Amino acid sequence: MAVPSVPTGAMPTLLAGKRALVTGGASGIGRAIAAQFRASGAEVIVADIGLAESDAPAAVDGSAGWQCDVADEASVARLAARVGGPLHILVNCAGIPQSYTAIDAMAVEAWDRIMAVNVRSLFLTAKHCLPALRAAGAASIVNICSNVGVRPKPGLAAYAGSKAAAIAVTQSLALELAKEGIRVNAVNPGATETPMLSGFTHGRPVAEAAQSFAAMIPMGEIVRPEDVAAAVLYLASDLARIVTGTTIEVDGGRSV
Ligand SMILES: NC(=O)c1ccc[n+]([C@@H]2O[C@H](COP(=O)([O-])OP(=O)(O)OC[C@H]3O[C@@H](n4cnc5c(N)ncnc54)[C@H](O)[C@@H]3O)[C@@H](O)[C@H]2O)c1
Repeated sequence: MAVPSVPTGAMPTLLAGKRALVTGGASGIGRAIAAQFRASGAEVIVADIGLAESDAPAAVDGSAGWQCDVADEASVARLAARVGGPLHILVNCAGIPQSYTAIDAMAVEAWDRIMAVNVRSLFLTAKHCLPALRAAGAASIVNICSNVGVRPKPGLAAYAGSKAAAIAVTQSLALELAKEGIRVNAVNPGATETPMLSGFTHGRPVAEAAQSFAAMIPMGEIVRPEDVAAAVLYLASDLARIVTGTTIEVDGGRSV
């Protein structure tokens, strides 16, 4: 089966004049989202725990990059102050995986960290970026959740629980902020070819892990970061001006 490649920057002015913040933007899906946004005309700021802390932004591809731990309120507050406003688009992409863990072998600290990075972060970035999002007039928040949030797998209780919670947070915020013209949506990727993939498979090489995941996907191949970025581009743009509280599955049919 020939699956065409994703046209990056097919609409070079779709996000012209918009400022976007992408957390987890230094790797994988977040990096592809930042690239798609830049190719679509946006000014993009990325935040990532993997960047060095500094008073000056780092250059990450073509974006300004700030160090931030999205699970930590002081760190997110500092990021929001550095980004300033107006902010038209906030993409919460930072996240951590869970390698298969039997529930009675799960450490409380590991459970709490997954919940903090994957869920508490959505609360913290919304709370601290709200003034900047309001200043944009109309704004869009896109949360990268997971198809495991709607189709859980064994041994992933913390990760699946965090992503199901992230979807519910998305829907609740969508209702809360609708009257203010701030749309909140989610994208649920299936297994995606990024460094994270090996985090689900006890460190097996990404290419090897990708092969076994592909066997479970109706379309027969795993998701590429660009596939997720294309769905995020739609939700972030004015093409989706009346779309809020929804979740787009980007998973080759896996969640059906
Ligand atoms: N790869 C997949 O198969 C897959 C599938 C479904 C959903 N997702 C979700 O997509 C998102 C992106 O994952 P990815 O595959 O690109 O992974 P990745 O590991 O390539 O990128 C994740 C990025 O998030 C950053 N990060 C981690 N913890 C952070 C923190 N506390 N604060 C700030 N930044 C932090 C990392 O440094 C990294 O740059 C995650 O939310 C993940 O759960 C991934």
